[in-house]
Amino acid sequence: MESIWTYIFWSILMSLAAILWHLRSSGHNAKLPPGPRGWPIFGNVFDLGNLPHRSLAALKPQYGPVVWTNLGSVKTMTVLSAAAAEELFKNHDLSFINRTIVETMRSHDFGKCSTGSVPYGDYWRTLRRICAVELFTAKKLNETKVIRQKWVDKMVLWIEKEIKERGSAGFELTDYVFPALYNMMGNILISRDLVDPHSKIASEFYIAMAGFLECMGRPNVSDIFPWLRWLDLQGLRKRMDRDLGKTIEITSGFVEDRVRQRRKKEGDLSESKDFLDVLLNSKDTESDERVKLSDHQITIFLLEMFFGGTETFSATIEWAMSELLQNPEAMIKIKSELSRVLGNHKKLEDSDIDDLPYLQATVEETLRLHPPLPLLIPRKAIRETTFMGYSIPKNTQVLVNAWAIGRDEERWEDALSFKPERFLGSDVGYKGQNFEFIPFGAGRRICPGIPLAHRLLPLILGSLLHHFDWEACKNVHSEVVAIDMMETMGTTAKKLEHLIVVATRSL
Ligand code: HEM
Repeated sequence: MESIWTYIFWSILMSLAAILWHLRSSGHNAKLPPGPRGWPIFGNVFDLGNLPHRSLAALKPQYGPVVWTNLGSVKTMTVLSAAAAEELFKNHDLSFINRTIVETMRSHDFGKCSTGSVPYGDYWRTLRRICAVELFTAKKLNETKVIRQKWVDKMVLWIEKEIKERGSAGFELTDYVFPALYNMMGNILISRDLVDPHSKIASEFYIAMAGFLECMGRPNVSDIFPWLRWLDLQGLRKRMDRDLGKTIEITSGFVEDRVRQRRKKEGDLSESKDFLDVLLNSKDTESDERVKLSDHQITIFLLEMFFGGTETFSATIEWAMSELLQNPEAMIKIKSELSRVLGNHKKLEDSDIDDLPYLQATVEETLRLHPPLPLLIPRKAIRETTFMGYSIPKNTQVLVNAWAIGRDEERWEDALSFKPERFLGSDVGYKGQNFEFIPFGAGRRICPGIPLAHRLLPLILGSLLHHFDWEACKNVHSEVVAIDMMETMGTTAKKLEHLIVVATRSL
């Protein structure tokens, strides 16, 4: 009996697919951008592979700078050139202002609470304002300077210890960068070390956070075929519910602890110590119910700021070091700039960064070739829009391929080579004005974390380079050191093979 129903189900599905296929071929979609013909039902899902930014970039020579694909039932427009990105962000930013909410983001209402996913409106504006005013103004960044320096110094000490204990044995660079970032953000946001071998709660948080980020980064059948959502075929929603639930439980415990401490202090309630205090203060003082943050919203906001500031930074530092190890000339230039400006004793500090143009150019060049979010964060059309002569239907998913744009031979000379020099004395920057270089996006939904990235990435990279000499770890079977530069896609584009290095003290 069951097999008859299965047969009927598949027959109906195949007939519908055939009709859709026919409609498409007979020119009903004439005003859509061009794109590869897809399979019935599945569309172009199989064309995308594991690295969609690369597969989509490869479509440009045949279809041009704006490409149409059907990812299952998700209609998708991808922008592949700086000119098309400029048109989108300058003239159609508002039409494409919302985000696509993937299935895992529905877990615990994450998608309804986080800055990166909520629809454009009052609540989104409130979150952006809090980010801009309470975290990323020059004044606030100066106040948290001590915390950033403390964890960079600790990272240097951990590596020194590693060298003393294990000599020339190789180690994974991210094993030191990531925990430093984790605790730095933990302290900026909630005054806590979130990597602490002596704390059970910290390790539970670490494991659950890694789990939910992994779920969020995985391609999900439920997003491609929303009508199959209820089956949760890969179990991602279930895992997300569990792991995100655990991080929420732990974080809201931290929030409750703080509320209790504040009650004890009473008289001092307005004293702002860290970001959590700011959020609790604004909750106490905000009278407009439309924008007042609930406890759950505060928790999600904290989590979002936390992972915004860890994965992206760690991936960028690993890419930068990998590029430098393959480009010894750039490595020599950056190290001599550091010793010229700092001498042989002084450590790198926040205030030195403006005097280190080659270091900054190296960070920019790294972000050009390896944007941690190669397709930015997907946007969604809020209305039918005429874009570059095409008619883009409401609810279309919009991808901007920052990876392809940063490597476009038409805009960048010798585009695939790592040459920090190209940014020296150049007006091109990553603040969303130069559309050939948009690792942080552009328009109204541009990344709010740029001011922190601008200070922290050079501080971490420069400290690593100033204190140590670096070599890539040799393969046991070969004398040749070739660093694999392929990426893997999760929530960010990280190195597929983690970089293994040998460090020696240089100061
Ligand atoms: C190397 C570091 C970083 C990179 C490359 C990066 C990149 C991006 C990109 C590409 C977007 C999407 C922009 C768009 O759609 O046009 C974004 C959005 C966002 N980023 Fe970052 N980011 C970084 C660091 C941070 C940090 C440190 C934070 C916060 C602590 C942060 C918080 C956010 C948030 C909240 C959004 C969503 C904005 C919105 O939808 O309105 N990011 N980021």
